[in-house]
Amino acid sequence: MKALILVGGFGTRLRPLTLSIPKPLVEFANKPMILHQIEALKAVGVTEVVLAINYQPEVMLNFLKEFEAKLGITISCSQETEPLGTAGPLALARDKLIDGSGEPFFVLNSDVISEYPFKEMIEFHKAHGGEVSIVVTKVDEPSKYGVVVMEETTGKVDKFVEKPKLFVGNKINAGIYLLNPSVLDRIALRPTSIEKEIFPKIAAEKKLYAIVLSGFWMDIGQPKDYIAGLRLYLDSLRKKSSTKLATGHHIVGNVLVHESAKIGEGCLIGPDVVVGPGCVVEAGVRLSRCTVMRGVRIKKHACISSSIIGWHSTVGQWARVENMTILGEDVHVCDEIYSNGGVILPHKEIKSSILKPEIVM
Ligand code: GDD
Ligand code: MG
Repeated sequence: MKALILVGGFGTRLRPLTLSIPKPLVEFANKPMILHQIEALKAVGVTEVVLAINYQPEVMLNFLKEFEAKLGITISCSQETEPLGTAGPLALARDKLIDGSGEPFFVLNSDVISEYPFKEMIEFHKAHGGEVSIVVTKVDEPSKYGVVVMEETTGKVDKFVEKPKLFVGNKINAGIYLLNPSVLDRIALRPTSIEKEIFPKIAAEKKLYAIVLSGFWMDIGQPKDYIAGLRLYLDSLRKKSSTKLATGHHIVGNVLVHESAKIGEGCLIGPDVVVGPGCVVEAGVRLSRCTVMRGVRIKKHACISSSIIGWHSTVGQWARVENMTILGEDVHVCDEIYSNGGVILPHKEIKSSILKPEIVM
């Protein structure tokens, strides 16, 4: 089977991290976002993944080459010269997706993390005989998503409305699809939105079906959701393979620490913390609800909560970093500094406290 992952977009909402690498390569739980998806696709028998990309394909491909061999899966790029939206890239990659077998293929948004129900989707798709299967999930605030009105028993979708202004329902498009090759005949090679132009039509023809996700789901394309998604992911890891989580008297709740990271004496870490490879966390540090990326040093008695610390940064002793502070790559927070929601661009040194959420260029 084949799959296409929509990798376009500049990932502006996840800046400053995406100033260093493309969003799909930003680590989530110590693994690039896109690898979570590729590994799950591989597990259900996908052998070829096409990345629909509109900038920096070299960065992506160089990085993924290593995993191609490791996972035994073919990864190729389909590069747009102008952004083609969420459907146009399918038309562009048409020759890569069609192999004459008539088999359906997966399409994924690259910024969603979930217990990908690929196996259930394949069975569901066979059983309903429609043209498209999509995954839906329930959220409290549906207006920033694609909303689906469906028949509960059969899953048949009556209506698909992208980012509705008025309340339509609370089941939203999770950005995970299985499409028959015939869908490609509906898409022209121009900027097109699958959510606005293609799905509503297929729904009107009663050929769009939805399966409700039972596990967790999150669009992690912005910091607040990234941190919330981490909690859900670690919760699910606790249920599935709890041996991967850290243990000890200094650990609270779900914590993932890379085997090459060093944790000092008297720290208290958790809940919902990820510490990346090569990190050094010195004595007496307090970490909660945060991600510390590769190569970071946290000095003695620093306290970090609800924040993301970018690659190779340092946080000084007695510093306090909180409330959605996002440090880009190679940022240095001096000793005793306080950051309340600072968003710091790469390669900066922070010498004075940031008292309210702001961007530091
Ligand atoms: N190749 C390519 N070209 N990819 C693109 C382009 C483009 O021009 N524009 C967007 N993408 C990719 C993004 O990188 C992302 O993986 C996916 O398409 C969806 O775009 P987002 O910008 O993240 O859309 P959204 O989050 O506002 O809404 C989408 O996702 C929601 C779920 O998270 C829609 O699919 C909604 O219906 C859905 O509910
Ligand atoms: Mg998104």
